[in-house]
Amino acid sequence: MATTPLPAVLPGTGATDYARYMRTDDLLALQRRADQWVHPDELLFQVVHQGSELLLKLTEAQLARSLDHLAMDQPGAAELLLRRAALGMHLITGQLQLLRHLHPAHFAVIRTVLGNGSGFESPGWRQIRSATTELDIAFSRVLSSRGLTPLDLYQGQPSDPLYRVAEALVELDERIALWRTEHYSVATRIIGHGVLGTRATPVDTLARLISHRRFPTLWEARTELTEASPRGHAGGQARR
Ligand code: HEM
Repeated sequence: MATTPLPAVLPGTGATDYARYMRTDDLLALQRRADQWVHPDELLFQVVHQGSELLLKLTEAQLARSLDHLAMDQPGAAELLLRRAALGMHLITGQLQLLRHLHPAHFAVIRTVLGNGSGFESPGWRQIRSATTELDIAFSRVLSSRGLTPLDLYQGQPSDPLYRVAEALVELDERIALWRTEHYSVATRIIGHGVLGTRATPVDTLARLISHRRFPTLWEARTELTEASPRGHAGGQARR
């Protein structure tokens, strides 16, 4: 049933309050127009990047809040925000799927208008990198102030709020690595192997970044546990 639109009461430009609050006029003017395209798939390429930047902005804001909660000794609240941040990373990984619809020859045309632009310059990713570095330092400080090591957490109870924060950090780290895996896969599907990116970075450098860890001590704790376990007893006899 059609409803009569109510008048806009919020300040700002836009025909409706939805447009004024969401700033849709500005938002939808941020993509190159059809008369500027060298190829219609510029819209696909730009929207996936812009959508990723927005979710990265949201993700970074959750990480900053999580850091504040850690400083206030509120691990439960910190954990919830880290889980939300990990979901943000998961969602931008999903968006990369759309790029599988980019024809390599069409992208070769789009590349001609990208200048020296490179993913390394992504403001969202830069912020995620610095926020995760800060979190790593802050969490290590919390542990050492209590005389704990990451290994202690993994030998303790799963209900320990600090263990839960550690696991939320690991989930986030994994989501970052999964984004990188998907990005590498999509990038090479489009531009191939052994070529240089727009910044003269070999595309295969991206493969090496996949194994990079933002919270290395939490991964080392796992390695230590595995190395300390009596081999051959952990899972019983191997089943065929
Ligand atoms: C057609 C799709 C894409 C291709 C072919 C591609 C290609 C590349 C290449 C070759 C690099 C290496 C650096 C360079 O030379 O520029 C790179 C890095 C990067 N790209 Fe993309 N990319 C694509 C889509 C995206 C999207 C949608 C994002 C989302 C923001 C993104 C974010 C990044 C980031 C953050 C890096 C730095 C590497 C890292 O930290 O793991 N790229 N990309």
